[in-house]
Amino acid sequence: MALLDVIKYGHPTLRQMAEPYKPGEIDGGFVQDMIETMRTEDGVGLSAPQVNVSKRFIVVTDSENLYTLVNPEIIAHSESTITDTEGCLSIPGLQASVTRWEKVIVRAFDVDGEKKEISVRGLLSRVFQHEIDHLNGVLYLDRADISTLTWINGGEDHYTPTTLEEVQREYKKLYHAERRELFFETV
Ligand code: NI
Repeated sequence: MALLDVIKYGHPTLRQMAEPYKPGEIDGGFVQDMIETMRTEDGVGLSAPQVNVSKRFIVVTDSENLYTLVNPEIIAHSESTITDTEGCLSIPGLQASVTRWEKVIVRAFDVDGEKKEISVRGLLSRVFQHEIDHLNGVLYLDRADISTLTWINGGEDHYTPTTLEEVQREYKKLYHAERRELFFETV
C-alpha cells in the first residue's frame, strides 16, 4: 500500500469531469491506497480526482461504515436541507458553511461490480454529496456561503480571507508557486 498525494485547490484535475470506470476496471491496490490516504489525512471522504486520477470513484467513512463506491450517482434527495460547516482535504486550512440535502439515495457499484443503492442522511449525506461533486469538478466553495469563510490554521500569520480572490492568492502562494496555469473556477 502507498499513500497518495492529495492535490490542492488550483490544480486543474479538480475542475475536470471525471471518467466512469468500465466493469472490472478498478484496481484493488488503488482502492486500498485511497482508503489508507483518507485515514492518514483524517478525512471522512476522498474522491479519485483529489489524488489526480480523473475517474469516478469515492471512499467515504463514518465511525461504523466504510463505503467504496464506483461510478456513484445521486438518484433521489429530500426536499429538506441542512446547513453546516464543511472542509476539504484539497482545500486545507479552510472551512465554510454549505447547505446540502438532508437525505440522499446513491446508486453505485462496489469494487466487485455489484450494483447497490444506499440511503443516507445527516453527515453521511453531506459527505456523499461533497465527494460526488468532486467527480463533476465541483468544489464545496462553489456552494458555500462565502461570508462564513474561516481560515482554521491560525498560528503566527493567522489570517482570515474574506473573498475567494484572497483565498486563491493564498493557495497559489502555498501550493502552486511554480504552476503557470491555475484552475480555481469551475470549467
Ligand atoms: Ni473535498
